[in-house]
Amino acid sequence: MDIRVVVGDVTKFRGDAVVVNLFEGVRAPVGATATVDAALGGTIRKLIQVGELTGKWGEQTLVHALGKLPVDRVLVMGLGKPEDFTLDRVRIVSAEAVKHLRKIGARQVGTIVHGVGTREGAHTGARGFNAAQATQALAEGALLGLYRFTRYKRDNDDAKKVIETLTIVERDRQRLRAMTEAVRRGRIFAEATNAARDLVNEPGNTLTPTELGRRAKEAARRSGIRCRVLGPQELRRLGARALLGVARGSQEPPRLIVLEYRGGRRGGPHLGLVGKGITFDSGGISIKPAEKMETMKGDMAGAAAVIAATSAIALLNLPIQVTALVPATENLPSGTALKPGDILRAMSGKTIEVINTDAEGRLVLADALHYARTRKVSHLVDVATLTGACVVALGTLNSGAFTNNQALLDKVLAAGRAAGEKIWPMPMDAEYDELIKGDIAEIKNTGGRKGGAITGAKFLQHFVGDTPWVHLDIAGTFETDKEKGYQPKGATGVMVRTLVSLAVELLSE
Ligand code: BES
Ligand code: MN
Ligand code: ZN
Repeated sequence: MDIRVVVGDVTKFRGDAVVVNLFEGVRAPVGATATVDAALGGTIRKLIQVGELTGKWGEQTLVHALGKLPVDRVLVMGLGKPEDFTLDRVRIVSAEAVKHLRKIGARQVGTIVHGVGTREGAHTGARGFNAAQATQALAEGALLGLYRFTRYKRDNDDAKKVIETLTIVERDRQRLRAMTEAVRRGRIFAEATNAARDLVNEPGNTLTPTELGRRAKEAARRSGIRCRVLGPQELRRLGARALLGVARGSQEPPRLIVLEYRGGRRGGPHLGLVGKGITFDSGGISIKPAEKMETMKGDMAGAAAVIAATSAIALLNLPIQVTALVPATENLPSGTALKPGDILRAMSGKTIEVINTDAEGRLVLADALHYARTRKVSHLVDVATLTGACVVALGTLNSGAFTNNQALLDKVLAAGRAAGEKIWPMPMDAEYDELIKGDIAEIKNTGGRKGGAITGAKFLQHFVGDTPWVHLDIAGTFETDKEKGYQPKGATGVMVRTLVSLAVELLSE
């Protein structure tokens, strides 16, 4: 979908439909909605009077223009109470509007930017966003909301329905440049998120560790960054025995994917990103129950997030250095698989007692985190579908955050807010370490059911040394079984936009 910004009057927009809005409690529309209402001869005001149009959050009212406008239809989106309006609501309204119009076959759609330019908008503007930010959110919401994973479905009628152009109509010429730039940024954020969704939705039989490496190379080529993909031989040379240990049960060779973007001057921030890349997690010898096991094709959602975010950071030309690492392998049972009781010596030299082969994510991350340290990163963030315990603790709304550095955590939380991705900080008291002290080896890979998300994070902390680090557990947020707002059913692409926003945050130091 093409997204344009034009200066003009919405009532002059030629196309299939135009989107306007209404805040809750408004009796007489203002701004662009008022101009459209005037052209319609007062239909919107009439609908308000009879109580059919209230402006309540989530309300969608389709009005037929019947020749009074160059478009066939006007979609009035309820914005809710002005004091509840946020930038994330702009994303949601934008997504809901284009989804509605796509469903009814619209191809050329015009829209105004929600929440700025009216009295109510001025109010929300004072609470933290301007026309450019709202425009970016509008573009993001539309592109994210229209996402579909259609690779494995042959042409059906739905696939033929596409919105070709979304035209943002703005009255104020002064805003044109900033808004056009905002659309470009919004597109980069949204397309990176959708690229991550594609990787996560792809099944395990096609998205093997080798294929993930190929896809990373492809993404790197398109965004002009360096990508190396290490195989078993190089991994043995590096001493990545924890990663190799997990890979032992599989026929597919493991990979360590290394992406390098050098945007900043030397001595500036160097962000290390590590993403869990288990392309299928059966649990290994400690095999999982059959129910919902198919969702474990998405156990590489952390990998997808760091690959897509690094590409986006490069496309935005941010003056920062990023090294992204993805330890990729399958976790399967076989005669050669890792067994409970086995002891591994990780790349860092630390010995690990494998209690449960289903706690494989922390094993592969141990080596990648240590490798990141050897690359001398100044900040380290890992993203992983690490624990079912995190889903129990936070449900599917918040990702869990764990850290050894409050200042970096604060930046990650701020980045999450900017991105519209919820993140909740979790405790990391030293006492939790007791639970993963090894009996025979130095540490063990599980600490029992109690505090499972925390002991997972504690395990990782053994491999980051004193590098400022945040671990993001996305086990509850990497996919959703219900469509909502700009989030279709399936992979969410969570943390792509947070990581890109984090890079922006680190530059404001
Ligand atoms: N990939 C899973 C965690 C997971 C669970 C992700 C549900 C997404 C949804 C991870 O490898 C795992 O199996 N973790 C175990 C750890 C346990 C054995 C200590 C878990 O959570 O049960
Ligand atoms: Mn597992
Ligand atoms: Zn896993």
